[in-house]
Amino acid sequence: MKFFVDTADVAEIGELAAAGLLDGVTTNPSLIMKSGRGILEVIAEICEIIDGPVSAEVAATDYDTMLKEGHKLAEIAENVAIKVPLTWDGLKACRTFADEGRMVNVTLCFTANQALLAAKAGATFISPFIGRLDDIGLNGMDLIEEIRQIYDNYPMLETEILAASIRTPNHVKEAALAGADVVTVPPSVLKGIIDHPLTDKGLSAFLADWKKTGQSIL
Ligand code: G3P
Repeated sequence: MKFFVDTADVAEIGELAAAGLLDGVTTNPSLIMKSGRGILEVIAEICEIIDGPVSAEVAATDYDTMLKEGHKLAEIAENVAIKVPLTWDGLKACRTFADEGRMVNVTLCFTANQALLAAKAGATFISPFIGRLDDIGLNGMDLIEEIRQIYDNYPMLETEILAASIRTPNHVKEAALAGADVVTVPPSVLKGIIDHPLTDKGLSAFLADWKKTGQSIL
């Protein structure tokens, strides 16, 4: 499974990239707002750090303006994946971008039928929002399982399932178990995945015993 980070914070991306943990980055208008910076410069900086797909989302809702915005975003770097919403205009733009050979991430997916349409439209990635389904009392992970089954039924559909709206380390595990191709994770959750009290306790005990040996490896 590929690991993307869901943030527009360039410093955080740099830190995680240095650890060799990142296959890509996703951003959205809310994350750009949170960064307090301009989308064009932020995406350009991220693309300098990350070789993998970097999702940059259009803000228009009509096809013609989506195309103009998508082309402007795609000009920034070859690894920009144009992110479009799951609307008719978004899917139409997705088909055009895909026919032009560009990567497209179709976002705001909440049903398996929507994911099927996005795949038919040539999406590189479909982004089902797990946490937001959990928020309304549904089980977001069921959606990943349904999409996985449908895409596996039709091997000609090459769209990758990008599990988004990930809120907990458990979401990451469940997405992997359900067969998501990619998981995009906020930095805080990504860092939290490594934590376990028994790991900390065990390391403390090993270090204490090592000190007692009086040895040095170097
Ligand atoms: O990038 C889209 C998605 O990951 C948003 O997550 O937590 O705002 O639902 P969230």
